[in-house]
Amino acid sequence: MSINYRNLTCSTADALVIYLLEDNLAVSNEELNKNIKFAEERELFKGKNGEIYRFTRALDNTIQTVVLVGLGKEENLTLDNVREATGKGVKKVKALGLKNIFLRVPHTEKINLEELIKTMATSAELASYTFNKYKTSEMEEKELNISISRCGIKEATKEIEEAINEGVEVAKGIIIARNLVNEPSNVIYPETLAEEAIKVGKESGFEVEVHGVDKIKALKMEAFYNVAKGSSKEPKLIVMRYFGDKDNKDNVLGLVGKGLTYDSGGYSIKPTDSMLDMKSDMGGAASVIGAMSIIAKRGLKLNVIAVVAACENLISGEAYKPGEVIGTMAGKTIEVVNTDAEGRLTLVDAVHYIITEEKVNEVIDLATLTGAALVALGETTTAVVTNNQNFFEELKSASEYTGDKMWQLPAFDDYKKLIKSDIADLKNSGGRFAGTITAGLFIEAFVQDKPWLHLDIAGTAWTSKNSDLGVKGGTGAPVHTLYELAKRRSK
Ligand code: BES
Ligand code: MN
Ligand code: ZN
Repeated sequence: MSINYRNLTCSTADALVIYLLEDNLAVSNEELNKNIKFAEERELFKGKNGEIYRFTRALDNTIQTVVLVGLGKEENLTLDNVREATGKGVKKVKALGLKNIFLRVPHTEKINLEELIKTMATSAELASYTFNKYKTSEMEEKELNISISRCGIKEATKEIEEAINEGVEVAKGIIIARNLVNEPSNVIYPETLAEEAIKVGKESGFEVEVHGVDKIKALKMEAFYNVAKGSSKEPKLIVMRYFGDKDNKDNVLGLVGKGLTYDSGGYSIKPTDSMLDMKSDMGGAASVIGAMSIIAKRGLKLNVIAVVAACENLISGEAYKPGEVIGTMAGKTIEVVNTDAEGRLTLVDAVHYIITEEKVNEVIDLATLTGAALVALGETTTAVVTNNQNFFEELKSASEYTGDKMWQLPAFDDYKKLIKSDIADLKNSGGRFAGTITAGLFIEAFVQDKPWLHLDIAGTAWTSKNSDLGVKGGTGAPVHTLYELAKRRSK
């Protein structure tokens, strides 16, 4: 599925999606107005946010489906309302089998035109996303042909074109992440994940270097290797580099994504139901690859290096076992009390590597790390642990713009006691209490006081339900926020 943004008009489209504010239900076309008024009088459509109403009208020699989508009151209008309305409208039109769609940009003083159009473009792409490639019976999906404009405007201005381009590129980055997460683990494993990163790097303009098991051992990434060695699939250390600000080569933002292409739990084995969706345990890796693609494609003026320690957590004669004491690239020792707390083991070596070998100044790690994050915040909100409040505020501000919800958890020193080991420097699980916090603080022990943000996306990288802007499966969160944070730095 892909969307082409061709120049349809309000009267050549098969479907016309009209966004309406609750306090201004009028459009300039009299015939449309009459219909809107009837719908309002019969209390079928009032313009409330989330509302949708459809009717058909006759044009000169054809008929057109008109879909009204509500934005709520203008004083409360946000980009999130625009996202929801677009998602509902596009999904409706697509379900009707219509292909040529005109999205009529609403008139409002509250949000500027380019922001509206960019958001509509991103949302239209995301709403039409599906992952049906393995259904042999599924009919080839029709390409949507969407125009985003206002009735009467003949040619899009350069600013409008540019807003649409950016909006589409953002969505494409999110979709890269969704696809990687949705691919089953027999298709995406460390080697093929690395190949995908190389492909995305070539298409969008960043460099990718992939290291195999010999280099991983030579670097003394013992924690990473211990997780990986239970699988016959070779682990890969994937390094992605984008230098958009060559005059400031010493200033580099580091991204680390958890890349467990499958997590069975190892000998601390997961129950069947929990194991089912564990192909999604590389959601962090998928997010950084998706974000890198947008950052590079947009040519942002900053430097970003991303690292993924990709492997599988399986059971075999080679696999690590509960009770073992293992080393790390940083030299610290770890008592493995639970082989299912594997993500943090791969992450601490990746974090140490990106700081010492790639020389980044700051680190954001993204990981589907704890079921506890799901218990605490559900599927909608990413849990954040940090050692730097300013860095968190920067993330929060970007996320408020993109709509990716984030919530900071406390990181009091007391919690560190929970991951002290009797036999080694640290143990890899602090038990049931404060599981998301202790997992974060485990990683903090390896960040060498660099400004650091830990995003636990166990809840948000995957969804069990279809929504206005997506379907069950990988969500691509929080790719948009990573891009937005980078973009704000690039100015
Ligand atoms: N990949 C899981 C976390 C997870 C759970 C992601 C549910 C997505 C949905 C992680 O490796 C894990 O198993 N964490 C354990 C940690 C525990 C053993 C300390 C967990 O959350 O149970
Ligand atoms: Mn696990
Ligand atoms: Zn895991």
